[in-house]
Amino acid sequence: MISNRPRRNRVSHSLRDLVQENSVSANDLIAPLFVIEGSNQKVPVASMPGQFRFSIDLLVQKVRELEALGIKCVSLFPALDDSLKDSKGTESYNPRGLFPRAISAVKEACPNMLVMSDVALDPYSSDGHDGIVDSKTGEILNDQTLDILAMMAITQANAGSDIIGPSDMMDGRVGYIRKALDEEGFSNTNIMSYTAKYASSFYGPFRDALDSAPKSGDKKTYQMNFANKREALREVELDENEGADILMVKPGLAYLDVLAAIREKSNLPLAVYNVSGEYAMVKAAAEKGWIDGEAVMMESLMAFKRAGADMILTYFAEEAATLIK
Ligand code: PBG
Repeated sequence: MISNRPRRNRVSHSLRDLVQENSVSANDLIAPLFVIEGSNQKVPVASMPGQFRFSIDLLVQKVRELEALGIKCVSLFPALDDSLKDSKGTESYNPRGLFPRAISAVKEACPNMLVMSDVALDPYSSDGHDGIVDSKTGEILNDQTLDILAMMAITQANAGSDIIGPSDMMDGRVGYIRKALDEEGFSNTNIMSYTAKYASSFYGPFRDALDSAPKSGDKKTYQMNFANKREALREVELDENEGADILMVKPGLAYLDVLAAIREKSNLPLAVYNVSGEYAMVKAAAEKGWIDGEAVMMESLMAFKRAGADMILTYFAEEAATLIK
């Protein structure tokens, strides 16, 4: 006789709902958005079907739509003209630059929408790296980069950013940025640290969108080796000590073990970045009719929640929120 029948909890839709352990809601989703100069511009990103680079006016319109879907946070990234890029990323702390103007415009139109802003040199760097490159040795200079990151963070906070997102992986940056923000009176500005950011080939379409691929070398001297998990826990300790408010793992789907390990270890809120290459793979296979794109999207988002994520940065945010609604 079989007394334990797990299938008894699966017999009907209602019972399955009743015993369901996790859920995905619009509250959990952060929408990454790309911004460009100009007006009335909506330029498709070829390797990310359904994603665009928006001029500020259309960006604001998109944010209003996301707000109506119940989304609470957008993560903005600037795509700059090459003429504005230099070796030190000086445009990154220009208070009249594209990015601070975009942040202010979004906050003015939608004060309740949280704006997260990316801190790293790559969109502004003629070298396409997240830090300053030593012109002789090619080394990515950690401590010299910190000053620029701090100025960038202050510029963004000044423009109204709610959440600073350092994605650069320089050592000590969270503490350095925290101190700089506090000194400038931004003690309520949140820091979501890209805690465990791996040197990943899943970022390809994003680099297309920003035209930000490294001009030489790779990012392996600052982003993490994808063979390592313990090292992610070391980064967690550092970020906690340096005052991070929210931790993040990136990429997502191939790193659910890292997400689960950090969930066990830390009491801070935890985010995961479902990155551009993960989005592109689902879109490409769905376009070919090889998978059910919507179903795979929802299954992936649920997997992040099950593994321990409190929030998900995902290019699927709008589509998923629409479906949930
Ligand atoms: C760069 C940055 C990258 C992403 C977010 N911030 C790319 C990189 O590190 O080269 C990737 C996001 C994605 O692939 O969706 N600071």
